[in-house]
Amino acid sequence: MVKICCIGAGYVGGPTMAMIALKCPDIEVVVVDISKPRIAAWNSDELPIYEPGLDDVVKSCRGKNLFFSTEVEKHVAEADIVFVSVNTPTKTRGLGAGKAADLTYWESAARMIADVSKSDKIVVEKSTVPVKTAEAIEKILTHNNKGINFQILSNPEFLAEGTAIEDLDKPDRVLIGGRMTPEGQKAVAALKAVYAHWVPEDRIITTNLWSAELSKLAANAFLAQRISSINAMSALCESTGADVSEVAYAVGKDSRIGPKFLNASVGFGGSCFQKDILNLVYICECNGLPEVAHYWKQVVSINDYQKTRFVKRVVSSMFNTVSGKKIAVLGFAFKKDTGDTRETPAIDVCHGLLGDKAQISIYDPQVTEDQMKRDLAMNKFDWDHPQHLQPQSPTAFKQVSVVWDAYEACKDAHGICIITEWDEFKKLDYQKIYDNMQKPAFLFDGRNVLNVEEMRKIGFVVYSIGKPLDPWVKDLQVSI
Ligand code: NAD
Ligand code: UDX
Repeated sequence: MVKICCIGAGYVGGPTMAMIALKCPDIEVVVVDISKPRIAAWNSDELPIYEPGLDDVVKSCRGKNLFFSTEVEKHVAEADIVFVSVNTPTKTRGLGAGKAADLTYWESAARMIADVSKSDKIVVEKSTVPVKTAEAIEKILTHNNKGINFQILSNPEFLAEGTAIEDLDKPDRVLIGGRMTPEGQKAVAALKAVYAHWVPEDRIITTNLWSAELSKLAANAFLAQRISSINAMSALCESTGADVSEVAYAVGKDSRIGPKFLNASVGFGGSCFQKDILNLVYICECNGLPEVAHYWKQVVSINDYQKTRFVKRVVSSMFNTVSGKKIAVLGFAFKKDTGDTRETPAIDVCHGLLGDKAQISIYDPQVTEDQMKRDLAMNKFDWDHPQHLQPQSPTAFKQVSVVWDAYEACKDAHGICIITEWDEFKKLDYQKIYDNMQKPAFLFDGRNVLNVEEMRKIGFVVYSIGKPLDPWVKDLQVSI
């Protein structure tokens, strides 16, 4: 039996390995992590992450050929293939801070693999890493000259949260990069054989190591660039009376462009896009390509602009101050169908509103109060560096309440901000919500989930990203 060990039981390691175990009953898969609570949760009925369909996959293989353990060294030593799926956040200190990827976790995993291995291994980069990382990893793995053969492969993950199981079950492609030597190609074939259990052969792409590493950064940069492009258009739509949904539809009908990923929003969030683009920018700078770095940096700058623009619309529409006013924030996760809040635009919007002394009442069906408060107390980029977390500021939290019901959040509010596109927000009784709000009642739709005309008929003053402005909003705008 082939043995796989995955280091890192997070959003990628957990679901990815569960899918391999499901599709490959002849392979034993052990997912290991240094976090005891995380592993305990993977072994319980309350999995540590919310992902539609994940519970069923885990339940059907856990204890058979899928195991979760904190005995990291033991399982690494026993494995034929070791996936490394640890976090690779943005550096917050030192050289490249605010841009470069922090490879501390990766390096410590690689050193441990080198120390505990007694047999040849294929080591797979599952984490998103800077191009050329495999070269450094090779040096670390072979530093103690034990005569063990390590083959490094790059096998980046393309799943999106909220649809991880679907994406893993039917991936657009699986990408495997390896050394062009006979041993390297043998390792590529071995990993390809794992995926071939369920992925059609024409969807398994093999490349050289550097192409695979760079393709992951490039794919995320291209995806994020589409969102920043439509968000940039949304600002122009608001100034001209065009409707961004109509523009996106017309543009997306061109088969060369395609309809996906053109939803204007309050801004993209998530643990990957910003981090990976900043990493790409840093790599370009290090390679003497400032123009290329500047080009990609704009994708992040427009995203920041979009979040700031949203807050300015809220404040300026409400007579240029939200001080002491109750604002309901509907949704805190960075997208629907996940409880993940990493880099969620909700954090920036809440900070903006709190900065103007609003009282905010937040509701999200999947995010706990603790998580929200931790996020709001954190410095930028610190979410993946637990050692840098700030103590929670009691003053800021006097302005924040977290409730478990959208109607409660909106009761007596002056305004509502929709930040996450949860399906349930489309089905709320907005007449009831309106009746229980202060007047004029403001509705700021950061996800374009509501029908603007219907909301205006109820009586709301409505702002929806990239839609023709409510005359009220238009008249009260300061420059955006
Ligand atoms: P995560 O933070 O959810 O999980 C990483 C896990 O690794 C944590 O549980 C941590 O405790 C563990 N870990 C860190 N160092 C370790 C060590 N030395 N030994 C054992 N365990 C260790 O991160 P994630 O979201 O799963 O992302 C992992 C990687 O995958 C990142 O590089 C990310 O960019 C990439 N990625 C993420 C997504 C996504 O949707 N989240 C998608 C594609 C790629
Ligand atoms: C992304 C990539 O899609 C995935 O391939 C990669 O492996 C990890 O990073 P993820 O961050 O989980 O996945 O979610 P994604 O669906 O890409 O959404 C990212 C952000 O963009 C979310 O905040 C989402 O709401 C936003 N978004 C997405 C838009 O604002 N408009 C869109 O049209 C699409």
